[in-house]
Amino acid sequence: MTRTKRIAVLTGGGDAPGLNAAIYAVVRAAAQRGWQVFGVRNGFDGFWEENGVFPLDPAAVDRILNQGGTILGTINRGDPFRVRVFREGQETVVDVTATILERVRTLNLDAVVVIGGDGTLRAAWELYQQGFPAVGVPKTIDNDVPGTEQTIGFATAVETACQALDRVQTTAAALRRILVVELMGRHAGFLALHAGLAGGADVILLPEFPFDYQVLARHLEQMRRGRGFSLIAAAEGAHPQGGQPVYWTQGDELTAPRLGGIARVVAQELEQRTGIEARWMVLGYLQRGGAPNATDRLLALRFGTLAVEMIEQGRLGTLVGLRQGRFQVMPLGVVHQEPPRRLSPDDPMVQTARRLGVVFGEAG
Ligand code: F6P
Repeated sequence: MTRTKRIAVLTGGGDAPGLNAAIYAVVRAAAQRGWQVFGVRNGFDGFWEENGVFPLDPAAVDRILNQGGTILGTINRGDPFRVRVFREGQETVVDVTATILERVRTLNLDAVVVIGGDGTLRAAWELYQQGFPAVGVPKTIDNDVPGTEQTIGFATAVETACQALDRVQTTAAALRRILVVELMGRHAGFLALHAGLAGGADVILLPEFPFDYQVLARHLEQMRRGRGFSLIAAAEGAHPQGGQPVYWTQGDELTAPRLGGIARVVAQELEQRTGIEARWMVLGYLQRGGAPNATDRLLALRFGTLAVEMIEQGRLGTLVGLRQGRFQVMPLGVVHQEPPRRLSPDDPMVQTARRLGVVFGEAG
């Protein structure tokens, strides 16, 4: 008779639709085995925060399958190896990993399901090297986690952004304007490409394919004589050839610079070059909010129950994922060995866009 297992679950990184569905899956699958489950608040911080770890049972997650956000709270770009704390009014950077490992030991946890993006999962992998019993579940609207072709949150974000583009298209057409819409995705173009394509954008600007303003201007001259307006989906990490992305904060040794502002720059530049009225807007956090669609709920249920399966089999230090349409398990180290995923020229959706004549704006 194996001892009743005690496991925990935490969510790290940006919120995304489907996080709660994954928590729901972990708690219910564990309860099916008679295990005890604990929720950890605010990413890894819950391990060293007051009341940061609390019991989670099926009743506590009963109604969260269709809720956006995360009932556990999260922290974006939280790195337990370098936490900024203030002591006696002095800011200092501390490594709290020993405290985390000690807390896991005193809680007598057999495993911790870590639901997060590449940053959170990399931290989980580094902790795993020191004995932290991690099993990873990939989540981010950016869809850039190595080892899986789809992450929790991506499908709903694409749908949200696509509906926004539909709405914006009507005003662009009515006033024969250039409308530049900025989408999230950090330095990956998956969200902008999928939403832009589904939303009928005639131009999609992607970090992986730097653009040339002259090429865009020529396209817009044709549009002026054609349907008379242009809808441009711009990934926040997109940038001109030989140029840099636009950031709205420079960051520091602990926090990454924050992307934002490319839509405004592109709108101003294209209006000057073509004389066509241009407007811009940033979808921002709309892409991370809202209830998960059925696709994300099902992905989260599959990932969450598979993670519990891995714990039952004693296969810690693993990452669940979807590859070639099959749910698979790989070493969590994949998030350390491989860089965040990026669009490649042979990506099927990239090829579809090119076959449709969607303009990425590359020169030559
Ligand atoms: O990683 C998800 C994401 O939404 C990115 O697309 C975006 O650049 C970033 O998080 C925004 O981070 P924050 O919530 O810290 O502003």
